[in-house]
Amino acid sequence: MILIKLGGSIITNKEKPLTANKPAIRRLASHLRRIKEPLVVVHGGGSYGHYWSVKYDIHTKPSRYNIKGVSVVKNSMVQLNRIILESFLESNLRPYCLPPSDFMLSDKPIVKKVKEITKIAITGLTPISYGDVMWFGKNKFYILSGDKIMGILSKILKPRLAIFVTNVDGIYSNMKTKRLIRDITVEKPTVSEVTTDVTGGMSRKIREAANISKNGTDVFFVNGNFPKRIANAISGKNFEGTIFRG
Ligand SMILES: Nc1ncnc2c1ncn2[C@@H]1O[C@H](COP(=O)(O)OP(=O)(O)OP(=O)(O)O)[C@@H](O)[C@H]1O
Ligand SMILES: [Mg+2]
Repeated sequence: MILIKLGGSIITNKEKPLTANKPAIRRLASHLRRIKEPLVVVHGGGSYGHYWSVKYDIHTKPSRYNIKGVSVVKNSMVQLNRIILESFLESNLRPYCLPPSDFMLSDKPIVKKVKEITKIAITGLTPISYGDVMWFGKNKFYILSGDKIMGILSKILKPRLAIFVTNVDGIYSNMKTKRLIRDITVEKPTVSEVTTDVTGGMSRKIREAANISKNGTDVFFVNGNFPKRIANAISGKNFEGTIFRG
């Protein structure tokens, strides 16, 4: 099974509130369709979830956030998820909508439920989950990022590969030079933070990827503007991006 995160940076325009990047979604869907292994997809919040989370000051830390804000963030993620579901359906990927509340209780995975996800993928459906605002208990809510979901699912499902797709070529040594780090075990990057990302942007993504690779799964970072690179990462030929060796 291959686990893929479609970053909000590629499926939306993060500079512009509530704008999906429909051509990019369509292109990604048509490339994912050609993958012969079972697939599980997770997507991020981009200019939907992050936009409203910033507005209502809702974060990853469980707290008694504004309930109108919780409702708005949750709705915006359903909206973005719908756009992706429609596009996946058109591309014959047979998407199977899987909100994270389906397999999480508070901030813990329901292991029995998570284990069913691979079985669903093996039927030929594509389970698709997404970062969301979650009920924590005791009147508290929290933001669960798509990156974190990647970590949770990897630990239990042990995919053959985990792939993070964003709008950049992989991990750069720093954003100024944009020199690509091909193998992360060899070199450590400098990360610049984006204020519109309530889930910690690239630095927390790198931490999550490092943890996944420690459990034995190879992790790739690739640019979704060149969807062929996803197929190359999967086949192991002509890989262009960053790898965390598992
Ligand atoms: N050293 C770095 N190498 C690569 N990208 C970096 C680096 N430092 C900061 N970034 C930024 O990180 C961004 C990707 O992280 P970001 O969290 O915004 O995207 P995402 O995870 O695709 O979106 P979402 O969180 O909505 O799913 C890139 O667009 C880039 O601007
Ligand atoms: Mg992010």
